[in-house]
Amino acid sequence: MPAHVGRDGVAACDHDGDPPGGRGRASSDGRVQTSQRARDGRRDSVTVSLVTGANRGIGLEVCRQLAQCGHDVLLGARSPEAAERAAAEAGATPLRLDVTSSADIERAAAEIGHLDVLVNNAAITYDTWQRASTADLSVVREAAETNLYGPWRLTQALLPLLRRSGRGRIVNVSSGVASLTGMGGGTPSPTTRPGRR
Ligand SMILES: NC(=O)c1ccc[n+]([C@@H]2O[C@H](COP(=O)([O-])OP(=O)(O)OC[C@H]3O[C@@H](n4cnc5c(N)ncnc54)[C@H](OP(=O)(O)O)[C@@H]3O)[C@@H](O)[C@H]2O)c1
Repeated sequence: MPAHVGRDGVAACDHDGDPPGGRGRASSDGRVQTSQRARDGRRDSVTVSLVTGANRGIGLEVCRQLAQCGHDVLLGARSPEAAERAAAEAGATPLRLDVTSSADIERAAAEIGHLDVLVNNAAITYDTWQRASTADLSVVREAAETNLYGPWRLTQALLPLLRRSGRGRIVNVSSGVASLTGMGGGTPSPTTRPGRR
């Protein structure tokens, strides 16, 4: 079982604390490589987790806490440099992954050989002042690509790995603002899809 988040917001480890897996590195052409375990598809007791949009904010902290719990963490970020920097800080493996890029998603699915946990965390645009009647639809479209279609496409691409894991988990980070019960005639719903507050 992967770690879970306790009431205090701190990840609780519920296994015997395996050591973190191999660290990532950039090859000479700057391409970010995933850890040896993830690429080999080695199936052992270590849980392999991927967190998107994890170079800062909540994603970075999730990576840090999962790594502390012994997960082999793949830290996704759209900038390879930011991924490198954050991964070094969190004890994770950097993975260049813009969730709106089909090429990035296909490459990630091809490079990762084993995956137990996918955390769809990346998101943009907290424009709660917008109104459906006047919203700039180019902003709505960009938000929908990042917050909805990107994670959806990524999840589809990684489902075979998660199914093969036998203990696969998908965590879609969301917020109360995406709750239908609180949604009036205000902020356009694609901008506040599950996954973005
Ligand atoms: N903060 C809150 O109070 C709060 C409350 C409820 C829910 N949440 C949810 O928690 C999650 C994280 O929130 P946060 O506050 O940590 O957000 P944040 O600080 O704004 O970080 C967002 C992360 O997503 C990345 N990102 C944006 N577009 C991306 C793309 N196309 N591909 C890959 N990564 C991309 C950003 O990368 P760059 O650095 O490259 O921009 C950044 O690393 C979101 O899903 C949010 O809805 C947050």
